[in-house]
Amino acid sequence: MNRSLSQSENILKIGVIGCGYWGPNHIRNFETLPDSRVLQVADLDPKRLSHIQVLFPRVTCTQRYKDVLENPEIDAVVLATPVSTHFDMARESLLAGKHVLVEKPIATSSREVTELTELAREKQKILMVGHTFLYHSAVRAIRKIVQEGHLGKIHYISMQRLNLGLFQKDINVLWDLAPHDISILQYLLDESPIEVAAQGKASVNPEIEDVAMMTLRFASGVLAYIHTSWLDPKKTRQATIVGNKKMLVYNDISAAEKIEIYDKGVETPPHYDTFAEFQYAYRYGEKVSPYIEEEEPLKVQCRHFLDCIRTGDPPLSGPQNGGLVVRVLEASDESLAQGGRFVPTQIH
Ligand SMILES: NC(=O)c1ccc[n+]([C@@H]2O[C@H](COP(=O)([O-])OP(=O)(O)OC[C@H]3O[C@@H](n4cnc5c(N)ncnc54)[C@H](O)[C@@H]3O)[C@@H](O)[C@H]2O)c1
Repeated sequence: MNRSLSQSENILKIGVIGCGYWGPNHIRNFETLPDSRVLQVADLDPKRLSHIQVLFPRVTCTQRYKDVLENPEIDAVVLATPVSTHFDMARESLLAGKHVLVEKPIATSSREVTELTELAREKQKILMVGHTFLYHSAVRAIRKIVQEGHLGKIHYISMQRLNLGLFQKDINVLWDLAPHDISILQYLLDESPIEVAAQGKASVNPEIEDVAMMTLRFASGVLAYIHTSWLDPKKTRQATIVGNKKMLVYNDISAAEKIEIYDKGVETPPHYDTFAEFQYAYRYGEKVSPYIEEEEPLKVQCRHFLDCIRTGDPPLSGPQNGGLVVRVLEASDESLAQGGRFVPTQIH
């Protein structure tokens, strides 16, 4: 990895492309961290740029994203633009010699991810995708709980990511919302699904599914469900992990108790002769909610990006991780087109 940084030794100069809903959070974080500064922001919409100019007066703004790529002072760019732009912009950014943090999903096909991965390697630049939940203290705590076996053998995981809107024009609801859940599943289980089935409905826009359910099967035997919707009255961000020892509920909306662990379960008796003798042993134990020290996940993610640029270490959410998520989404598209049958992800 080329460690030479432009201009000052210590401060990394960042350019942010796209300052709609999510981009300003990147600007705020890179402006707040002690070892980075946002030099330039690009957006097609002048109103968004005026808004940013008021919030961050020292940042320069442009409607032409190529100005950011051509700016020799900028070390790294953040792409917070619509998904359909990710591949072209990430490719151009790498070719311009910039490190790249691209929002999720990294691209719209596995072929594009392979091309970006090779280009980043060739240019010796960090390429990272914004799988923010891998930097979330609650998700990290759950991974530890799962990996240390506190829940026992995992039977299944069910996840819901629902709200009213925001309707996207270039992708369906799975490509918009499920990258978070797919990346969380891979992170918790340390494995990728072997096959995926998806069903959905385009209720508002005839071409684009706004509600969809994905079923994922893992080689270890774990079954997972992801329910996504832009057409739900209540914002829900929940996951339930059911193990043979304990059960865990993760509610990301809850301010105080994001994780609840239930000492509940069911055991079948070792011996029985007739069905009449057969009795399940239900266990209704206590519920605990572990204390989680919270830090803004995006801030942790931004810091990790800066650290990777400095050290040359591969990011936790690098292109390989981003590619696994894209492959699952591609398989879900194939399944949707084939009436919901299971499609192999060919990731082992
Ligand atoms: N990691 C997370 O938790 C998280 C949360 C929300 C959104 N996102 C991701 O962030 C990205 C942006 O989402 P959003 O909700 O902010 O979308 P948005 O539509 O609110 O903002 C996108 C912005 O990009 C600008 N833009 C589009 N094409 C451009 C171009 N060629 N040059 C310059 N600017 C251009 C638009 O004008 C708009 O202001 C998406 O990839 C989304 O998946 C991630």
